[in-house]
Amino acid sequence: MMKDIKRITNGSPYQQYLYSYPHKTTYRPLAQPTSLQEAWSREGVDDLFLYMHIPFCAMRCGFCNLFTSAKPRGGEQGAIVKSYVDAIERQALQFREAVPHARFSRFALGGGTPTYLEPEDLQRLFAIAKNLFGMDLKITPTSVESSPETASLERLTVLRENHVDRISIGVQSFIDEEVRSVGRAQKREEVCQTLTNMREMGFPILNIDLMYGLPGQTQERWQYSIDEALQFAPEEIYLYPLYVRPLTGVSKLARTWDDERVALYRFGRDYLRARGYEQVSMRMFRKPLARTDDAPKYSCQEDGMVGLGPGARSYTRELHYSTDYAVAAAGVREIISDYSARSDQTLREIDYGTRLNEAEQKRRYAILSLLHIDGLRYADYRERFGGAVQEDFPELALLREAGLCSDRDGALLLTDAGFERADAIGPWLHSEEVDALMTDFDLK
Ligand SMILES: C[S@@+](CC[C@H](N)C(=O)[O-])C[C@H]1O[C@@H](n2cnc3c(N)ncnc32)[C@H](O)[C@@H]1O
Ligand code: SF4
Repeated sequence: MMKDIKRITNGSPYQQYLYSYPHKTTYRPLAQPTSLQEAWSREGVDDLFLYMHIPFCAMRCGFCNLFTSAKPRGGEQGAIVKSYVDAIERQALQFREAVPHARFSRFALGGGTPTYLEPEDLQRLFAIAKNLFGMDLKITPTSVESSPETASLERLTVLRENHVDRISIGVQSFIDEEVRSVGRAQKREEVCQTLTNMREMGFPILNIDLMYGLPGQTQERWQYSIDEALQFAPEEIYLYPLYVRPLTGVSKLARTWDDERVALYRFGRDYLRARGYEQVSMRMFRKPLARTDDAPKYSCQEDGMVGLGPGARSYTRELHYSTDYAVAAAGVREIISDYSARSDQTLREIDYGTRLNEAEQKRRYAILSLLHIDGLRYADYRERFGGAVQEDFPELALLREAGLCSDRDGALLLTDAGFERADAIGPWLHSEEVDALMTDFDLK
């Protein structure tokens, strides 16, 4: 059945952030569980991405539905975190034994808030990367997420000593009352001090996350936050539209504010472009200098990703897997504690995820390419899958007719109108099977 383009052109531009495809809510207990060894046996393993997920934060922000737990309770905090890091180490060891030839060329610590960890626990994670996976951190592009409250000098020093070259920090807004209105306690002075420290310590790439569509956020206030961020000359800035999601602290805020978000988005985009930033995706802007062919690439969405920790996804071409997933505090705590208690034997088993048939592999490639500045290159698609993407996905013609993308230099690229509606285009390009599984998912 042909898709209805009106879902994009007439519906809300804010339908869903397509962080990857297929979405994690399509994962289920696998009908045929497999082992790490089997899952990676047909995969190229000499250029992998290692991702460690740290599901802890100093607070639970009202808007956030990421897999994370604030100040973990249900036992002594330090002990919970320690047994979690122990489990990451055990899981890393299982992977190394199952896939001894694996070589990693990129590394990221994400969350949650990795800098919530004590400095010695952060050190342990880098030691795992070096000692278990043989990574040379001096030459491996490494990225770490942080928050203003947790990125202390001592922790930042550990990151620099381990050659982290990209530090990302969630600021959201430089106006304290704006962040407070969505359930996040934060002090502007602390934010600025942390950013100053990051710059002084010489991280080559600083990324700042900002949010628009916050209650009471006018264009002037939005500009103020962007200007403040620009004072620190970040190499990257992410502009996130506020989403109100189920089971989060702000989920009762009944708001329809698409027009506000679109106006703030356009303002932010134009403002950053006028100051020399290029738009990489709907949310990401970067200084062109940060983009050379041998510049580190941090895309978490490619195949060949090994995730450690619950909530971390791993991707082979045919199998995407993780552990079970939750948003509400009790569910998250339970999953973390189950993970930490897993035996080495079960850490070698994969029993939760989704298998991608060839049609879904093609769709994944088409969607993720299209939503990125480099676009969907026809020749690359043909080389990889041996067919024409226009024939496999006739709906792309509808996007072109609606002015949401256009052809240039052998690639299909989003137009400005397309970037603006990327959060509607992504879900529109889902397969029916993926949509059905997502609708069916029981969020905990
Ligand atoms: C892992 S966090 C960043 C690091 C750190 N935990 C922090 O918050 O400072 C990822 C980013 O996702 C964005 N985000 C999370 N939930 C969101 C929502 N409901 N709407 C818009 N952006 C959201 C925020 O900008 C946040 O900084
Ligand atoms: S936005 Fe960041 S600090 Fe806040 S709960 Fe989410 S991951 Fe944690």
